[in-house]
Parts: sequence; C-alpha cells; structure tokens
Amino acid sequence: MTLVDSAAHRHALAGRLADGGFLRTSPWRAAVETVPRHEFLRGGFFDQVKGSAPTAWRPVLPGTAGWLERCYADESLVTQIAGTVVPGDIRGEIMRTPTSSSTMPSLVVRMLEELQVDDGNRVLEIGTGTGYSTGLLCHRLGDELVTSVEVDAEVSSRASAALGSCGFFPELVVGDGLAGHKEGAPYDRLVATCGVLEVPHAWIEQTAPGGVILATLCGWLYASELARLTVGDDGVAHGQLLGGQISFMLARPQLPPPLGMLPDLDDGKERETVTGADVLNNWSARFVTQLAVPGAQRLTMQRDGRTENVLVDVDSGSWAAVYEDGGRWLVRQGGPEGLWDRVEEQLGRWYAAGAPELEEFTVTVTPEGQTVRW
Ligand SMILES: C[S@@+](CC[C@H](N)C(=O)[O-])C[C@H]1O[C@@H](n2cnc3c(N)ncnc32)[C@H](O)[C@@H]1O
Repeated sequence: MTLVDSAAHRHALAGRLADGGFLRTSPWRAAVETVPRHEFLRGGFFDQVKGSAPTAWRPVLPGTAGWLERCYADESLVTQIAGTVVPGDIRGEIMRTPTSSSTMPSLVVRMLEELQVDDGNRVLEIGTGTGYSTGLLCHRLGDELVTSVEVDAEVSSRASAALGSCGFFPELVVGDGLAGHKEGAPYDRLVATCGVLEVPHAWIEQTAPGGVILATLCGWLYASELARLTVGDDGVAHGQLLGGQISFMLARPQLPPPLGMLPDLDDGKERETVTGADVLNNWSARFVTQLAVPGAQRLTMQRDGRTENVLVDVDSGSWAAVYEDGGRWLVRQGGPEGLWDRVEEQLGRWYAAGAPELEEFTVTVTPEGQTVRW
C-alpha cells in the first residue's frame, strides 16, 4: 500500500460524503481528506456472514483483497465482538454481539457537523472506539482541545497507538463515559458515539453554559435518534431530536439486563386491543412505545401455531404478549404493570396529536432527569 493509494481513497470518500450532504464545511472536509481511516482499522474488522441466523461474523484482516477499499467505504465496521474478541483472534466465524466498531463515515461527519464546533472549542468525546472520529476532532481543533473517554482499556490502547501513528496525541481516558471526565471540564462541546438511554446530568455539569451536547437517545426496543441539546446558565439542557433513524451501540452500563427465566406467559389476562404489534415495525411508533415502557425488551415467539410479540420488563416482572387472531389483535398481560395499557395510552396520545415526526420532539434534561415531549 502506498501513501498515494490512501490519499486517493480519502479524497474520494470526502467527495462522496460532500455529495451526500453529510460533509458540509471545509474544515471537516480537510479533516476527512487528511486522516487515514485505514490506520484505525489495522487490526482488521468483522464482516457479517450473509444469511446467518443468529448473525455470524467473519474476520477481514489487512492484506486481504479489498480491505483498503472497505476502509474507505461508507460502512460501519465491527472491530470487537463479545467485549474482548478482535479479528486477529478468530479463524472461521463467531456468533456473538459486536461491542466496538468504527462508525460509518457519513454518520461520523454528520455528527461532527451537527456539533457546530468553533475554533478553540474544547471537546469531550464519549466512546473513543477505533479513534477515527477522535483523529478528525484533533485535525479540526488541535490535540490539546480534545479529550476522549473509552470504557474498554484495550480498545483505548489500540486507538492511542493508531492516533499516535497519525501524529495525534489527544487526552485519552479509560472509564465510564456516562460520568464524563470532570478533571478536564468545562467543555464547549460534548459528543457521544455510543447511545444512551438518558443524557447523564454529569455531562451538563461539565459543559459550559451555551455549550452543545450531541448524543443518540436509544432504548431497549432499538429505535434511536440523535439529540442536540444546549446547556443553559441554570444547569438545564434543552434541545431537540434531529431525525435520521440512526443506530448506535448502547453505552455498556446501560445494556438491557439478561431476560433470565421468562414469566409464565399463560398466566395473564387477555383482551382485545386496537393497537396491533405491527406498530412496533414503525421506527417512530417504536420510539414512542419505548418512552412509555422504557424497561421493556421485545422478543418474538411461536406459540400455539401463531406468532406472539412479547414485551418483558425484567425489573418489574411485567409482560405483554400481543398476537393476531382471526383478523383482530389480542393482548395477554401479566405482572404489576399493564405494559400494553401504557403503550396504548401513549401511542393514542401521539396519534391524536397527528403522529408528529421525531424531529418535532424536544428533550429537556434537569438534575431530576430527562423529559421527552412532542
Ligand atoms: C461505535 S463505537 C465508537 C466509534 C468511534 N467513535 C470511531 O470512530 O471509531 C462506540 C464505543 O463506545 C464505547 N463505549 C460503550 N460504552 C461506553 C461508556 N459507558 N463510556 C465510554 N465508552 C463507551 C464502546 O466500547 C465502543 O468502543
């Protein structure tokens, strides 16, 4: 591989991202044209095995035909599986959950543009990952203004080596980014490249008044959206969802609890419902549902010859099974909270308001917690 090869790929990537409307300003374009993404993928990545269920992953190592081209394609590349496994560890395939990745470049640059940085801004990034987005921030602002927190020490150390090989030396911190990094506060901008259930108030405390926080609000039903909040003088952050149906890995401490032993799904009260489980196939409706039952996880089961969509809240032990029967929808619920009652009520209010787009949702975070409204 020659430097010329990589320069051509970087320029071509920048051109495609600009054509797609993701890369909009010249400082970020210069960063994409300069920072070599392949240097952050020297450990290889995992390819999803087509048609596998459950999903299997196969390593793609540097030197493999097409590796360099893939590093400059607009795709997310998984770099770690099951919390420890990297591509060099595997021959064959692995069927576990991805835990670290290099985010697709269009989303990386969209977020950097949406962060609205000015020269001289101090930035805290949560989720260093491969370090590619950290490298772009260093190019744009200078190493001394960039701090990045990664929960996984080995991931952070690989990012540190990659950043160093590109001549970038930001402050890299190993720890739970949900706590921010108060030693370096206040920051002018905070950007999270892992999803969160709620924006932690620590981030607001560590961001200067007028500063911007950009993070992806996720949930356990896996509908997520970018949110941009501005921090006020009163320690309250307010802003809105930006739309675009983006997905991110959840911050590790906020991953859903194991389902464990399922409750007895026969032992519940059955009734007809106007809200069919098919609403959960709609991204926005699923986001709204997730707000109504934030502790619920979804699974699909074949029972008595039919498909049942089941929501289970492990903490409260509540559950709801929703299924079609002769052209009508039925729900059977158990446990202390009527999960589907809450979903019906929340979705009913959202539909009554004209089912506003997620971009019309506002987000407010106070010391007491986060409120999402439409
Ligand atoms: C999608 S990757 C980051 C991509 C990265 N920005 C890049 O360009 O390669 C998300 C990262 O967030 C990290 N992460 C998850 N939970 C975290 C937490 N609580 N604090 C800090 N990092 C976290 C993961 O280990 C993972 O490396």
